[in-house]
Amino acid sequence: MARERWSGKLGVILAVAGSAIGLGNFLRFPGQAVQNGGGAFMIPYFVALLLLGLPLMWIEWTIGRFGGGFGHSTAPGMFHTLANKNRFVKYFGVIGIFGPIVIFVYYTYIESWLLGYSVFALRGLYNRCHDHASMTAFLDAYRGLTRNEYFSGLATAYAFFLITFAVNLGIVAFGIRRGIERVCRYALPVLFVMAVVLMVRVLTLGSPDPAHPENNVFSGLGFLWNPDWSKLWNGAAWERFLREPGLSPVRLAHLGAALNGRVWLAAAGQIFFTLSVGIGVILTYASYLSPRDDVALSGLTAASANEVAEVILGGSIVIPAAFAFFGPVAVLQSGSIFDLGFKTMPLVLQKLAFAPLFGFFWFALLFLAGITSSISLAQPAVAFLEDEFNLARKEAALVFGMVTFLLCHLVIFGLGAGVLDEFDFWGGTFGLVLFGTVETILFGWVFGMDRAWSELHIGSDITIPRFYRWIIRYVTPVFLLVILTAYLIQDGLPLLTLRNVPPERTLPILMTRIVLVLLFALLALLVWLAWRRKASPQGAV
Ligand code: ALA
Repeated sequence: MARERWSGKLGVILAVAGSAIGLGNFLRFPGQAVQNGGGAFMIPYFVALLLLGLPLMWIEWTIGRFGGGFGHSTAPGMFHTLANKNRFVKYFGVIGIFGPIVIFVYYTYIESWLLGYSVFALRGLYNRCHDHASMTAFLDAYRGLTRNEYFSGLATAYAFFLITFAVNLGIVAFGIRRGIERVCRYALPVLFVMAVVLMVRVLTLGSPDPAHPENNVFSGLGFLWNPDWSKLWNGAAWERFLREPGLSPVRLAHLGAALNGRVWLAAAGQIFFTLSVGIGVILTYASYLSPRDDVALSGLTAASANEVAEVILGGSIVIPAAFAFFGPVAVLQSGSIFDLGFKTMPLVLQKLAFAPLFGFFWFALLFLAGITSSISLAQPAVAFLEDEFNLARKEAALVFGMVTFLLCHLVIFGLGAGVLDEFDFWGGTFGLVLFGTVETILFGWVFGMDRAWSELHIGSDITIPRFYRWIIRYVTPVFLLVILTAYLIQDGLPLLTLRNVPPERTLPILMTRIVLVLLFALLALLVWLAWRRKASPQGAV
């Protein structure tokens, strides 16, 4: 069967940009920036963009196109080829199918809330909620966590979930060019226009409350854009680090505090999530390129489009609007991504003329951004079934749909027990850094930097500055290993030992982990079976 291909350069760039531009840009980014000190967050953010994000973009585009040349659309086959058919390396590639599935499961559910809220905005359903508490009550009842006069159960949320899920599967079932590429071609320009309209409206708000002129959009922009070096260095913690003997965990914790490690971790995590690197989806998208298609400029263009959407558009909507209407104190207290997106923004937009329209723009923009990302999250698993088990695309989409549909129910009904956060940590945070580390080492060290650099430049429309050779080989992997270790110490160990989990959540969290481990094991088994089939004379393709 002939491999599918993108229609051209613009098609693949739009698809990758569509994957990258998502809820991460408009919800997660402002949330992370608020939680991590605004101007203090942006410094590690840009460092991570240059030392992790861009190198990984190029690595994934290159590995993807290389693997596609051997008929592989997913990481197991690509890693196998890259590592000279080593027997074990392909199992690391399982993370590149597991991660997207896990993210898809919770991402699609959040996406469905946005569809619901787009309709609510137009119908003015949350218009009687005039403060943070009543918006919280509205959202909680919608998600089935409580009941109130608006929602007495999960029926509405479930209906919007079914629609969202079906739309995702439908697009993927149509294939690369007729499904994914076509949707991105229309959705991306529309969402950019919506975002620009919202940004202009927010930036012209000035100082809406005459009693508090200090609360204005510029204070929000200043919070994000005034670099705050002081927060990146804690002299007292450094003194404690110097005084502590040996290499104990306590001493490492002092070092982490001295460098404000949490902010660095948050920034690196955001770069991974927003660029869709370390997930496995860009590998898959790039595998539908032709062998001499450019990857260097295309990767850079897709990353740049994402950064414009994130720091220019994403950074100029929620934060300035929230600062103008509520002031810094209230914003800093309610900085979680759901607070800003589902509570603060509708409250702000309600106060404007044409409120239903602006509310609709906000949620529809997020929904479109979400769709172009979630379809990319579905693609690796579907492509794996197509490539390695010769399933037709529609059959593969159906199998993927059945498995993820079941998994979504864990998130829907286990929301109050923290199942979504659990999926997010393993699939959307830790998994990304782990996978990014593996592919960087494979690319720069196993495949070898000379071959990697030439491969990256085949058919290339630009020459990447040579110092990136050095960054990809040394800086990126060391940076990644430090982050990985820090994640394990800071979040992984307390998480593994259930240290911060209240007793009533222990069982659901443990069950979630068992399901995740089983999913990983199932995928590893499928990889094993696929290679056994290939080795047998009948199965050889
Ligand atoms: N990159 C996607 C986002 O930002 C996953 O939402």
